[in-house]
Amino acid sequence: MHIYIVFAHPSRRSFTGDVLAEFCRGLEDGGHSYEIGDLYEMDFRTDMSLDEYNREMNVHGNRPELPIPSDVEAEHAKIEKADGLVFIFPVWWSDCPAKLKGWFDRVFVYCCGLIMV
Ligand SMILES: Cc1cc2nc3c(=O)[nH]c(=O)nc-3n(C[C@H](O)[C@H](O)[C@H](O)COP(=O)(O)O)c2cc1C
Repeated sequence: MHIYIVFAHPSRRSFTGDVLAEFCRGLEDGGHSYEIGDLYEMDFRTDMSLDEYNREMNVHGNRPELPIPSDVEAEHAKIEKADGLVFIFPVWWSDCPAKLKGWFDRVFVYCCGLIMV
């Protein structure tokens, strides 16, 4: 299997970073391949723009003809290539870090009558 790992922690030298390292080691031991999307390292933009919002939803309905930003398309390509999607993140105030929340907001887009991905 090929796994896309979305990693959302500012430091690899952390407990969450250790979880990532061990998870990757397990995948390697099992003969699997993987790609890591380190959201902080990528400086992934987490704020949804007005155009992105209008594409997904507005008072007149969504407008799927509006373009999807290239950084979001790059995430879609990584997901398409993968058999499995894994999220590794710390619990911050009983939720995921804002960095990951913004990834969900922007990457899970309306597509062909369905929610991508
Ligand atoms: C901003 C912030 C908020 C946190 N909120 C929670 C929380 O709501 N519940 C919890 O159990 N731990 C919380 N923690 C503790 C982290 O989940 C904990 O540090 C976790 O083991 C991750 O460790 P790491 O940063 O070394 O990867 C919080 C830590 C930070 C920095």
